Amino acid sequence: MTKQIQLFNNIAPKAFEDIEDDYFLSNEPIDNPDAIILRSAKLHDMTFAPETKYIGRAGAGTNNIPVERATEAGIVVCNAPGANANGVKELAAMSLVMASRNVLDALKWTDSLKGQDDIAAKIEAGKKNFVGRELRHKKMGVIGLGSIGGRVANMCIDFGMTVYGYDPYVTLRSAWGVDSRVKYTEDLQTIFSECDLVSLHVPYTEENHHMINSDILAYAKDGLILINLARDGLVDLDALEAAIESGRVGTYVVDFPEEKTLNMRNTINIPHLGASTPESQENAARMVINQMTDYLENGNITNS
Ligand code: MLT
Repeated sequence: MTKQIQLFNNIAPKAFEDIEDDYFLSNEPIDNPDAIILRSAKLHDMTFAPETKYIGRAGAGTNNIPVERATEAGIVVCNAPGANANGVKELAAMSLVMASRNVLDALKWTDSLKGQDDIAAKIEAGKKNFVGRELRHKKMGVIGLGSIGGRVANMCIDFGMTVYGYDPYVTLRSAWGVDSRVKYTEDLQTIFSECDLVSLHVPYTEENHHMINSDILAYAKDGLILINLARDGLVDLDALEAAIESGRVGTYVVDFPEEKTLNMRNTINIPHLGASTPESQENAARMVINQMTDYLENGNITNS
């Protein structure tokens, strides 16, 4: 019988063309799907159907899936590690430059000149308010040296920065292709006390809930630029707000806006765009489709 696949979020339809003759694919709810493929839809309240054997997250994080409950129900849960790494790396590049060069405030101000006279003169006079800093020779801390963090660390080496890397799970950093010029450190304090900019690239787990808290922010250099394109629960927002108010954190860039971050000073809110490119979406969809077909057809689990 044709296997039924429940899709959420209309992910990369092109990636499904190869299997559409062999599987019944539906973006509308179906009663008893053999597999579920999703992007950011939240499955916490979902009652799993008896036939469901596989859930594929077309992205890196799995915190929108009740993994333990699914596993207990005998469902294999897979993700697509690295599929969107380039998309997130490029957004990190934008975040570093945007925060260092006051680009957001500058753009808002430039936009406010619409309809006014003497725009050239006003720009000449006003641009002094947006003088920024270059990245070259600054110290960059990368927390998490997996497929995304590793690429960000290497990119920052290319920017001419001194890069410090920290990863609670990685000791053989060469396995991730991280540039040998990245200074590996085993403690977060070093990252915060040394670096001008810090970027988070770890998944969210119970253990690292609020890993960025008042204790660690106490080590930060004044004016730190903190970038979080990873997950919201990593940062204790009350502690962060206090650090922004005291000037210890100069700018926070976050790809998971919520009411609090939208109301926080010196915060650049991005509407979760890290993986929002057709390239990343297609890579991620193809990765989980391959895993799914291999599991449903051959019983192989190949989450890499
Ligand atoms: C991820 O976990 O990789 C992202 O949340 C993916 C996405 O935005 O779809």
